Amino acid sequence: MDQAKQSPIHIACIMDGNGRWAKRRGLPRTEGHTAGEENLAEVVRVCASRNVGWLTVFGFSTENWVRPPAEVKHILSLHKRLFGRVEELNAHNVRIQWIGRPFDEPGSKTPAFIQKAILQAIEDTAHNTGMVLTVAFDYGSRAELLRAAQRSRASHNASHDISVAEITSHMYAPNLPPVDVVVRTSGESRISNFMLWQIKGAKVYFTERTWPDFDAREIDNALELVHAR
Ligand code: IPE
Ligand code: IPE
Ligand code: MG
Repeated sequence: MDQAKQSPIHIACIMDGNGRWAKRRGLPRTEGHTAGEENLAEVVRVCASRNVGWLTVFGFSTENWVRPPAEVKHILSLHKRLFGRVEELNAHNVRIQWIGRPFDEPGSKTPAFIQKAILQAIEDTAHNTGMVLTVAFDYGSRAELLRAAQRSRASHNASHDISVAEITSHMYAPNLPPVDVVVRTSGESRISNFMLWQIKGAKVYFTERTWPDFDAREIDNALELVHAR
């Protein structure tokens, strides 16, 4: 089907398998994460050249903090690198945004240097009018939903029912349209607490490829699924 005639697609990726990618090559897990971040830059470039209006990626979950400290430290440094790719994002007219546990919330563990990198990247790409790249960092869908439900209740009196639109308006990024296709790499078929509200009607693309090997052809396979019956 001619993608140009279709409305822009929202693709959401659970970027999994960095560790296995490295293990297969006899490399430390950290090398897999480095390759994964580099591949993300490539995926952004490819998606921006396709009919993708929204690319959302799961970078780090609220559950991932329990990983070995050295691995967490490395993953954090890669997020600094990712949010520092402002020149590339601007070159592709990509606006970046972030979803995750708010920094001022009890339990937030996001260090100041990551907070700063996130806020700076948002500011430095805010003028871009093309694809929106949403990075989920310290993200968990249940926490997002719970917060949205609490906020909806707080802004209501007992005579009103809470609506779907209202819950949506309290999501971390209320501007995010529904996900058209959710991708999970590395042969896993779990959703792992990712965007449970937003993937309601989404197609699901599971692939054996690990994230560092998720290439343009794979992206096109996932996008085709959106148009398939
Ligand atoms: C995904 O790769 C990256 C993060 C979850 C941060 P993994 O590190 O989960 O890779 P595997 O699943 O161990 O192969
Ligand atoms: C999901 O991957 C989280 C991210 C991709 C950031 P995990 O590797 O952490 O997921 P589970 O624990 O295997 O489901
Ligand atoms: Mg994994």
